[in-house]
Amino acid sequence: MATHPPRVLTGITTSGTPHLGNYVGAIRPALASAHARDEENFYFLADLHALVKCGDPARVQRSTLEIAATWLACGLDADSIWFYRQSDIPEIPELTWFLTCVAGKGLLNRAHAYKAAVDRNRAEGEDDDAGINAGLFMYPVLMAADILIFNADKVPVGRDQVQHIEMARDFAQRFNHLYGEHFVLPEAVIDENVATLPGLDGRKMSKSYDNTIPLFAPRAELKKLIASIVTDSRAPGQPKDTEGSALFQIYQAFATPEETRAFAQAFADGIGWGEAKQVLFERIDREVAPLREKYEALIARPAEIEALLRRGAARLRETHATPTLARLREAVGLRDLSTGASTARAPSARKETAALPAIKQYREADGKFYFKLVLGERVLLQSVGFDSPRDAGVRVAAIRHGEIGDAESDFRLGDGVTSDEVNAALAAFVAAQLDAGDGK
Ligand code: TRP
Repeated sequence: MATHPPRVLTGITTSGTPHLGNYVGAIRPALASAHARDEENFYFLADLHALVKCGDPARVQRSTLEIAATWLACGLDADSIWFYRQSDIPEIPELTWFLTCVAGKGLLNRAHAYKAAVDRNRAEGEDDDAGINAGLFMYPVLMAADILIFNADKVPVGRDQVQHIEMARDFAQRFNHLYGEHFVLPEAVIDENVATLPGLDGRKMSKSYDNTIPLFAPRAELKKLIASIVTDSRAPGQPKDTEGSALFQIYQAFATPEETRAFAQAFADGIGWGEAKQVLFERIDREVAPLREKYEALIARPAEIEALLRRGAARLRETHATPTLARLREAVGLRDLSTGASTARAPSARKETAALPAIKQYREADGKFYFKLVLGERVLLQSVGFDSPRDAGVRVAAIRHGEIGDAESDFRLGDGVTSDEVNAALAAFVAAQLDAGDGK
Protein backbone atom coordinates (compact mmCIF):
# COMPACT_ATOMS: atom_id res chain seq x y z
CA MET A 1 0.00 0.00 0.00
CA ALA A 2 1.01 3.59 -0.49
CA THR A 3 3.19 4.94 2.27
CA HIS A 4 2.82 8.58 1.28
CA PRO A 5 -0.11 10.81 2.22
CA PRO A 6 -3.01 10.54 -0.21
CA ARG A 7 -2.49 12.37 -3.45
CA VAL A 8 -5.26 14.67 -4.57
CA LEU A 9 -5.19 15.96 -8.12
CA THR A 10 -7.35 18.30 -10.09
CA GLY A 11 -7.17 20.07 -13.43
CA ILE A 12 -8.80 23.26 -14.63
CA THR A 13 -9.40 23.65 -18.34
CA THR A 14 -8.01 26.98 -19.54
CA SER A 15 -10.71 28.08 -21.88
CA GLY A 16 -12.51 30.83 -20.00
CA THR A 17 -12.47 33.54 -17.37
CA PRO A 18 -13.08 32.39 -13.78
CA HIS A 19 -16.55 33.37 -12.56
CA LEU A 20 -18.38 33.40 -9.25
CA GLY A 21 -19.68 29.88 -9.90
CA ASN A 22 -16.11 28.55 -10.27
CA TYR A 23 -15.13 30.37 -7.10
CA VAL A 24 -17.96 29.04 -4.97
CA GLY A 25 -18.10 25.58 -6.53
CA ALA A 26 -14.42 24.78 -7.01
CA ILE A 27 -11.76 27.30 -6.02
CA ARG A 28 -12.89 28.22 -2.52
CA PRO A 29 -13.64 24.65 -1.33
CA ALA A 30 -10.49 23.26 -2.95
CA LEU A 31 -8.21 25.76 -1.28
CA ALA A 32 -9.97 25.41 2.05
CA SER A 33 -9.17 21.70 2.12
CA ALA A 34 -5.87 21.72 0.26
CA HIS A 35 -4.06 23.60 2.95
CA ALA A 36 -5.87 21.95 5.81
CA ARG A 37 -5.35 18.25 5.30
CA ASP A 38 -2.45 15.90 5.26
CA GLU A 39 -2.49 15.37 1.53
CA GLU A 40 -0.17 15.91 -1.37
CA ASN A 41 -2.02 18.22 -3.72
CA PHE A 42 -1.64 18.57 -7.48
CA TYR A 43 -3.38 21.53 -9.16
CA PHE A 44 -2.80 22.13 -12.79
CA LEU A 45 -3.88 24.21 -15.73
CA ALA A 46 -5.24 21.81 -18.34
CA ASP A 47 -4.22 23.80 -21.38
CA LEU A 48 -3.91 20.76 -23.65
CA HIS A 49 -7.53 20.00 -22.87
CA ALA A 50 -8.42 23.57 -23.76
CA LEU A 51 -7.30 22.94 -27.35
CA VAL A 52 -10.09 20.42 -27.84
CA LYS A 53 -12.82 23.05 -27.78
CA CYS A 54 -11.03 26.30 -28.29
CA GLY A 55 -9.45 27.24 -31.58
CA ASP A 56 -8.50 30.68 -30.31
CA PRO A 57 -4.81 30.89 -29.31
CA ALA A 58 -5.07 34.32 -27.66
CA ARG A 59 -7.94 33.11 -25.53
CA VAL A 60 -6.05 29.99 -24.38
CA GLN A 61 -3.11 32.17 -23.37
CA ARG A 62 -5.28 34.77 -21.66
CA SER A 63 -7.34 32.17 -19.84
CA THR A 64 -4.22 30.35 -18.62
CA LEU A 65 -2.90 33.58 -17.14
CA GLU A 66 -6.25 34.51 -15.60
CA ILE A 67 -6.81 31.12 -14.03
CA ALA A 68 -3.28 30.92 -12.64
CA ALA A 69 -3.56 34.44 -11.19
CA THR A 70 -6.99 33.63 -9.76
CA TRP A 71 -5.84 30.56 -7.86
CA LEU A 72 -2.83 32.42 -6.53
CA ALA A 73 -4.90 35.44 -5.54
CA CYS A 74 -7.35 33.16 -3.73
CA GLY A 75 -4.56 31.81 -1.59
CA LEU A 76 -2.97 28.88 -3.38
CA ASP A 77 0.48 28.45 -1.89
CA ALA A 78 2.71 27.26 -4.73
CA ASP A 79 5.36 26.15 -2.26
CA SER A 80 3.18 23.60 -0.53
CA ILE A 81 1.13 22.41 -3.50
CA TRP A 82 2.23 21.18 -6.89
CA PHE A 83 1.01 23.93 -9.20
CA TYR A 84 1.80 23.56 -12.87
CA ARG A 85 0.72 23.82 -16.45
CA GLN A 86 -0.07 20.56 -18.22
CA SER A 87 1.76 21.47 -21.42
CA ASP A 88 4.99 22.01 -19.45
CA ILE A 89 5.09 18.28 -18.68
CA PRO A 90 5.80 16.51 -21.99
CA GLU A 91 5.60 13.17 -20.18
CA ILE A 92 1.81 13.64 -20.03
CA PRO A 93 1.23 13.45 -23.79
CA GLU A 94 3.77 10.65 -23.97
CA LEU A 95 1.82 8.64 -21.41
CA THR A 96 -1.34 9.52 -23.30
CA TRP A 97 -0.04 7.48 -26.22
CA PHE A 98 0.81 4.48 -24.03
CA LEU A 99 -2.70 4.61 -22.60
CA THR A 100 -4.22 5.12 -26.05
CA CYS A 101 -2.73 1.77 -27.00
CA VAL A 102 -4.53 -0.04 -24.18
CA ALA A 103 -7.75 1.99 -24.20
CA GLY A 104 -10.76 0.22 -25.64
CA LYS A 105 -12.16 2.22 -28.54
CA GLY A 106 -15.59 0.91 -27.65
CA LEU A 107 -15.30 2.42 -24.21
CA LEU A 108 -14.36 5.80 -25.69
CA ASN A 109 -17.38 5.58 -27.99
CA ARG A 110 -19.51 5.67 -24.86
CA ALA A 111 -17.96 8.81 -23.35
CA HIS A 112 -20.75 11.31 -22.57
CA ALA A 113 -19.23 14.32 -24.33
CA TYR A 114 -18.46 12.39 -27.49
CA LYS A 115 -21.83 10.63 -27.49
CA ALA A 116 -23.64 13.92 -27.03
CA ALA A 117 -21.83 15.31 -30.08
CA VAL A 118 -22.80 12.23 -32.11
CA ASP A 119 -26.40 12.49 -30.92
CA ARG A 120 -26.54 16.13 -32.03
CA ASN A 121 -25.26 15.13 -35.45
CA ARG A 122 -27.86 12.37 -35.73
CA ALA A 123 -30.64 14.72 -34.69
CA GLU A 124 -29.58 17.02 -37.49
CA GLY A 125 -29.38 14.19 -40.01
CA GLU A 126 -25.62 14.58 -40.30
CA ASP A 127 -22.94 11.95 -40.48
CA ASP A 128 -22.26 10.58 -36.94
CA ASP A 129 -18.82 12.13 -36.68
CA ALA A 130 -19.40 15.30 -38.69
CA GLY A 131 -17.35 18.17 -37.30
CA ILE A 132 -16.03 16.11 -34.38
CA ASN A 133 -12.28 16.28 -33.86
CA ALA A 134 -10.37 13.27 -32.58
CA GLY A 135 -9.26 15.38 -29.61
CA LEU A 136 -12.80 15.28 -28.26
CA PHE A 137 -12.77 11.53 -28.71
CA MET A 138 -9.40 11.12 -26.97
CA TYR A 139 -10.16 13.62 -24.20
CA PRO A 140 -10.69 10.92 -21.55
CA VAL A 141 -7.32 9.34 -22.35
CA LEU A 142 -5.44 12.60 -21.93
CA MET A 143 -7.27 13.14 -18.67
CA ALA A 144 -6.35 9.64 -17.52
CA ALA A 145 -2.69 10.41 -18.25
CA ASP A 146 -2.96 13.60 -16.13
CA ILE A 147 -4.15 11.52 -13.21
CA LEU A 148 -2.19 8.30 -13.60
CA ILE A 149 1.21 9.88 -14.21
CA PHE A 150 1.26 11.05 -10.59
CA ASN A 151 -0.62 8.05 -9.21
CA ALA A 152 -3.28 10.31 -7.74
CA ASP A 153 -5.54 8.56 -5.24
CA LYS A 154 -8.36 11.09 -5.24
CA VAL A 155 -9.69 13.37 -7.92
CA PRO A 156 -12.22 16.00 -6.79
CA VAL A 157 -14.54 16.59 -9.72
CA GLY A 158 -18.06 17.55 -10.64
CA ARG A 159 -20.58 14.85 -11.46
CA ASP A 160 -20.07 15.35 -15.17
CA GLN A 161 -16.48 14.15 -14.81
CA VAL A 162 -17.11 10.94 -12.88
CA GLN A 163 -17.23 8.85 -16.04
CA HIS A 164 -13.77 10.12 -16.96
CA ILE A 165 -12.37 8.88 -13.65
CA GLU A 166 -13.96 5.50 -14.23
CA MET A 167 -12.31 5.37 -17.62
CA ALA A 168 -8.96 6.28 -16.08
CA ARG A 169 -9.38 3.32 -13.75
CA ASP A 170 -10.17 1.09 -16.68
CA PHE A 171 -7.10 2.16 -18.65
CA ALA A 172 -4.93 1.82 -15.54
CA GLN A 173 -6.18 -1.69 -14.95
CA ARG A 174 -5.56 -2.74 -18.50
CA PHE A 175 -2.09 -1.27 -18.44
CA ASN A 176 -1.29 -2.91 -15.11
CA HIS A 177 -2.57 -6.19 -16.40
CA LEU A 178 -0.33 -6.09 -19.44
CA TYR A 179 2.80 -4.49 -18.03
CA GLY A 180 2.79 -4.97 -14.25
CA GLU A 181 1.46 -2.91 -11.37
CA HIS A 182 2.41 0.62 -12.32
CA PHE A 183 -0.73 2.62 -11.61
CA VAL A 184 -2.88 3.35 -8.62
CA LEU A 185 -6.60 3.24 -9.45
CA PRO A 186 -7.90 6.76 -8.79
CA GLU A 187 -11.19 7.58 -7.13
CA ALA A 188 -13.53 10.45 -7.90
CA VAL A 189 -14.39 12.64 -4.94
CA ILE A 190 -17.63 14.55 -5.22
CA ASP A 191 -18.40 17.16 -2.63
CA GLU A 192 -22.14 16.95 -2.09
CA ASN A 193 -22.22 20.12 -0.01
CA VAL A 194 -20.83 22.45 -2.61
CA ALA A 195 -23.46 24.69 -4.07
CA THR A 196 -23.89 25.21 -7.76
CA LEU A 197 -24.51 28.87 -8.26
CA PRO A 198 -27.30 30.20 -10.45
CA GLY A 199 -26.28 32.68 -13.14
CA LEU A 200 -27.79 35.96 -14.28
CA ASP A 201 -30.75 34.20 -15.92
CA GLY A 202 -31.38 31.80 -13.03
CA ARG A 203 -29.96 28.74 -14.81
CA LYS A 204 -26.72 27.23 -13.52
CA MET A 205 -23.91 29.77 -13.87
CA SER A 206 -21.91 28.51 -16.80
CA LYS A 207 -19.83 29.79 -19.66
CA SER A 208 -21.99 27.79 -22.03
CA TYR A 209 -25.13 29.71 -21.01
CA ASP A 210 -23.33 33.04 -21.19
CA ASN A 211 -24.84 34.01 -17.86
CA THR A 212 -21.73 34.35 -15.72
CA ILE A 213 -20.40 37.03 -13.40
CA PRO A 214 -16.61 37.17 -13.68
CA LEU A 215 -15.03 36.68 -10.28
CA PHE A 216 -12.75 39.65 -10.70
CA ALA A 217 -14.92 42.00 -12.66
CA PRO A 218 -14.06 45.56 -11.57
CA ARG A 219 -16.40 46.92 -8.88
CA ALA A 220 -18.50 48.96 -11.29
CA GLU A 221 -18.98 46.05 -13.66
CA LEU A 222 -19.79 43.68 -10.80
CA LYS A 223 -22.47 46.09 -9.66
CA LYS A 224 -23.93 46.36 -13.15
CA LEU A 225 -24.00 42.59 -13.62
CA ILE A 226 -25.64 41.99 -10.27
CA ALA A 227 -28.28 44.57 -11.20
CA SER A 228 -29.10 42.44 -14.24
CA ILE A 229 -29.91 39.25 -12.30
CA VAL A 230 -33.46 38.15 -13.12
CA THR A 231 -36.14 38.68 -10.51
CA ASP A 232 -39.92 38.56 -10.55
CA SER A 233 -41.90 41.76 -10.92
CA ARG A 234 -42.97 42.28 -7.33
CA ALA A 235 -42.86 45.86 -6.17
CA PRO A 236 -41.09 47.13 -3.05
CA GLY A 237 -43.22 46.42 0.01
CA GLN A 238 -44.52 43.14 -1.38
CA PRO A 239 -43.10 40.02 0.32
CA LYS A 240 -40.61 38.13 -1.90
CA ASP A 241 -39.93 34.39 -2.20
CA THR A 242 -36.46 33.23 -1.30
CA GLU A 243 -37.32 29.88 -2.86
CA GLY A 244 -36.18 29.89 -6.48
CA SER A 245 -34.61 33.34 -6.23
CA ALA A 246 -31.21 33.43 -7.94
CA LEU A 247 -30.41 36.57 -6.02
CA PHE A 248 -31.03 34.84 -2.71
CA GLN A 249 -29.07 31.73 -3.63
CA ILE A 250 -26.03 33.74 -4.67
CA TYR A 251 -26.22 35.72 -1.44
CA GLN A 252 -26.37 32.53 0.58
CA ALA A 253 -23.18 31.23 -1.06
CA PHE A 254 -21.27 34.20 0.36
CA ALA A 255 -23.02 34.94 3.62
CA THR A 256 -22.94 33.43 7.10
CA PRO A 257 -26.07 31.56 8.22
CA GLU A 258 -26.94 34.57 10.36
CA GLU A 259 -26.66 37.00 7.48
CA THR A 260 -28.71 34.63 5.36
CA ARG A 261 -31.50 34.53 7.95
CA ALA A 262 -31.56 38.32 8.07
CA PHE A 263 -31.73 38.50 4.28
CA ALA A 264 -34.63 36.01 4.25
CA GLN A 265 -36.41 38.21 6.78
CA ALA A 266 -35.87 41.23 4.54
CA PHE A 267 -37.45 39.25 1.66
CA ALA A 268 -40.47 38.46 3.82
CA ASP A 269 -40.67 42.13 4.83
CA GLY A 270 -40.84 43.18 1.20
CA ILE A 271 -37.37 44.55 0.48
CA GLY A 272 -37.29 46.11 -3.00
CA TRP A 273 -35.29 44.26 -5.68
CA GLY A 274 -33.04 47.24 -6.22
CA GLU A 275 -32.12 47.36 -2.56
CA ALA A 276 -31.69 43.57 -2.39
CA LYS A 277 -29.27 43.78 -5.29
CA GLN A 278 -27.33 46.49 -3.53
CA VAL A 279 -27.05 44.27 -0.40
CA LEU A 280 -25.88 41.34 -2.53
CA PHE A 281 -23.33 43.47 -4.34
CA GLU A 282 -21.84 44.77 -1.11
CA ARG A 283 -21.70 41.30 0.41
CA ILE A 284 -19.89 39.77 -2.57
CA ASP A 285 -17.57 42.72 -2.92
CA ARG A 286 -16.62 42.47 0.75
CA GLU A 287 -15.23 38.96 0.16
CA VAL A 288 -13.88 39.54 -3.32
CA ALA A 289 -12.32 43.02 -3.08
CA PRO A 290 -9.14 42.00 -1.24
CA LEU A 291 -8.68 39.05 -3.62
CA ARG A 292 -9.30 41.31 -6.61
CA GLU A 293 -6.54 43.58 -5.45
CA LYS A 294 -4.09 40.68 -5.31
CA TYR A 295 -5.34 39.42 -8.64
CA GLU A 296 -4.74 42.72 -10.35
CA ALA A 297 -1.23 42.91 -8.93
CA LEU A 298 -0.49 39.38 -10.11
CA ILE A 299 -1.90 39.75 -13.57
CA ALA A 300 0.13 42.91 -14.08
CA ARG A 301 3.29 40.78 -13.79
CA PRO A 302 2.70 37.82 -16.11
CA ALA A 303 6.43 37.02 -16.30
CA GLU A 304 6.38 36.12 -12.62
CA ILE A 305 3.49 33.75 -13.08
CA GLU A 306 5.23 32.24 -16.08
CA ALA A 307 8.37 31.66 -14.01
CA LEU A 308 6.41 30.21 -11.11
CA LEU A 309 4.62 27.73 -13.38
CA ARG A 310 7.83 26.70 -15.08
CA ARG A 311 9.53 26.19 -11.76
CA GLY A 312 6.66 24.04 -10.54
CA ALA A 313 6.74 21.91 -13.67
CA ALA A 314 10.52 21.52 -13.62
CA ARG A 315 10.49 20.30 -10.01
CA LEU A 316 7.58 18.01 -10.67
CA ARG A 317 9.22 16.49 -13.73
CA GLU A 318 12.39 15.89 -11.84
CA THR A 319 10.75 14.29 -8.81
CA HIS A 320 7.92 12.41 -10.48
CA ALA A 321 7.20 12.64 -14.18
CA THR A 322 10.59 11.90 -15.69
CA PRO A 323 11.50 8.90 -13.51
CA THR A 324 7.97 7.54 -13.88
CA LEU A 325 8.09 7.72 -17.66
CA ALA A 326 11.51 6.08 -17.65
CA ARG A 327 9.97 3.11 -15.82
CA LEU A 328 6.94 3.04 -18.08
CA ARG A 329 9.04 3.18 -21.26
CA GLU A 330 11.02 0.25 -19.96
CA ALA A 331 7.81 -1.60 -19.08
CA VAL A 332 6.28 -1.27 -22.53
CA GLY A 333 9.50 -2.22 -24.29
CA LEU A 334 10.90 1.14 -25.36
CA ARG A 335 14.30 0.07 -24.15
CA ASP A 336 17.99 0.54 -24.52
CA LEU A 337 18.92 -2.00 -27.19
CA SER A 338 22.23 -2.77 -25.60
CA THR A 339 20.74 -4.04 -22.35
CA GLY A 340 20.23 -7.80 -22.79
CA ALA A 341 17.43 -7.81 -25.34
CA SER A 342 15.23 -10.30 -23.59
CA THR A 343 12.90 -12.64 -25.38
CA ALA A 344 10.94 -13.13 -22.21
CA ARG A 345 7.69 -11.29 -22.01
CA ALA A 346 6.48 -9.10 -19.25
CA PRO A 347 4.57 -11.12 -16.67
CA SER A 348 1.29 -10.85 -18.45
CA ALA A 349 2.31 -9.65 -21.87
CA ARG A 350 -0.42 -9.52 -24.46
CA LYS A 351 -1.91 -12.82 -23.68
CA GLU A 352 -5.03 -12.07 -25.60
CA THR A 353 -3.00 -11.93 -28.80
CA ALA A 354 -0.33 -14.55 -28.07
CA ALA A 355 -1.70 -18.08 -27.88
CA LEU A 356 -0.95 -19.66 -24.54
CA PRO A 357 0.47 -23.16 -24.32
CA ALA A 358 -1.85 -25.79 -22.96
CA ILE A 359 -1.46 -29.27 -21.52
CA LYS A 360 -3.56 -32.02 -23.04
CA GLN A 361 -4.02 -35.34 -21.27
CA TYR A 362 -5.28 -38.43 -23.03
CA ARG A 363 -5.20 -42.21 -23.16
CA GLU A 364 -3.88 -44.14 -26.14
CA ALA A 365 -4.90 -47.47 -27.58
CA ASP A 366 -1.99 -49.04 -25.73
CA GLY A 367 -3.89 -48.34 -22.48
CA LYS A 368 -1.26 -45.93 -21.21
CA PHE A 369 -1.75 -42.34 -20.07
CA TYR A 370 -0.06 -39.53 -21.96
CA PHE A 371 0.06 -35.79 -22.02
CA LYS A 372 1.53 -33.18 -24.27
CA LEU A 373 2.35 -29.50 -24.03
CA VAL A 374 1.00 -27.74 -27.09
CA LEU A 375 1.16 -24.22 -28.42
CA GLY A 376 -1.62 -23.85 -30.95
CA GLU A 377 -1.05 -26.70 -33.41
CA ARG A 378 2.53 -27.20 -32.36
CA VAL A 379 3.54 -29.98 -29.97
CA LEU A 380 6.31 -28.66 -27.72
CA LEU A 381 6.64 -31.62 -25.38
CA GLN A 382 5.40 -35.16 -25.71
CA SER A 383 5.34 -37.38 -22.65
CA VAL A 384 6.09 -41.07 -22.52
CA GLY A 385 3.20 -43.38 -21.63
CA PHE A 386 2.44 -43.72 -17.93
CA ASP A 387 0.86 -46.79 -16.45
CA SER A 388 -1.51 -44.90 -14.18
CA PRO A 389 -3.34 -41.60 -14.62
CA ARG A 390 -2.01 -40.58 -11.24
CA ASP A 391 1.61 -40.79 -12.40
CA ALA A 392 0.79 -38.68 -15.41
CA GLY A 393 -1.14 -36.26 -13.16
CA VAL A 394 1.83 -35.75 -10.86
CA ARG A 395 3.98 -34.81 -13.84
CA VAL A 396 1.38 -32.46 -15.21
CA ALA A 397 1.05 -30.73 -11.86
CA ALA A 398 4.79 -30.19 -11.72
CA ILE A 399 4.79 -28.64 -15.17
CA ARG A 400 1.98 -26.34 -14.20
CA HIS A 401 4.29 -25.02 -11.54
CA GLY A 402 7.07 -24.56 -14.05
CA GLU A 403 9.05 -27.61 -13.01
CA ILE A 404 10.04 -29.80 -15.87
CA GLY A 405 11.84 -32.22 -13.63
CA ASP A 406 13.82 -34.95 -15.25
CA ALA A 407 12.69 -34.13 -18.73
CA GLU A 408 14.90 -36.62 -20.52
CA SER A 409 13.23 -39.65 -19.10
CA ASP A 410 9.60 -38.52 -19.12
CA PHE A 411 9.19 -36.39 -22.23
CA ARG A 412 10.68 -35.67 -25.53
CA LEU A 413 10.71 -32.40 -27.41
CA GLY A 414 8.35 -32.06 -30.32
CA ASP A 415 9.76 -32.12 -33.82
CA GLY A 416 12.05 -29.14 -34.48
CA VAL A 417 11.32 -27.66 -31.03
CA THR A 418 14.21 -26.14 -29.12
CA SER A 419 14.49 -26.19 -25.35
CA ASP A 420 14.51 -22.36 -25.39
CA GLU A 421 11.12 -22.45 -26.99
CA VAL A 422 9.84 -24.82 -24.34
CA ASN A 423 11.25 -22.66 -21.55
CA ALA A 424 9.68 -19.50 -22.95
CA ALA A 425 6.37 -21.27 -23.31
CA LEU A 426 6.51 -22.60 -19.77
CA ALA A 427 7.38 -19.15 -18.43
CA ALA A 428 4.35 -17.68 -20.19
CA PHE A 429 2.23 -20.56 -18.98
CA VAL A 430 3.23 -20.03 -15.37
CA ALA A 431 2.94 -16.26 -15.64
CA ALA A 432 -0.59 -16.58 -16.98
CA GLN A 433 -1.58 -18.73 -14.03
CA LEU A 434 -0.04 -16.28 -11.59
CA ASP A 435 -2.01 -13.60 -13.34
CA ALA A 436 -5.21 -15.50 -12.92
CA GLY A 437 -4.62 -15.22 -9.20
CA ASP A 438 -3.05 -18.58 -8.34
CA GLY A 439 0.19 -17.30 -6.99
CA LYS A 440 -0.77 -13.99 -5.40
N1 TRP B 1 -11.92 17.61 -17.63
C1 TRP B 1 -11.82 18.45 -16.47
C2 TRP B 1 -12.97 19.48 -16.54
O1 TRP B 1 -13.44 19.81 -17.60
C3 TRP B 1 -10.50 19.16 -16.41
C4 TRP B 1 -9.41 18.16 -16.24
C5 TRP B 1 -8.45 17.83 -17.13
C6 TRP B 1 -9.18 17.38 -15.07
N2 TRP B 1 -7.62 16.87 -16.63
C7 TRP B 1 -8.04 16.58 -15.37
C8 TRP B 1 -9.83 17.29 -13.84
C9 TRP B 1 -7.56 15.67 -14.44
C10 TRP B 1 -9.34 16.38 -12.92
C11 TRP B 1 -8.20 15.57 -13.21
O2 TRP B 1 -13.36 19.95 -15.51
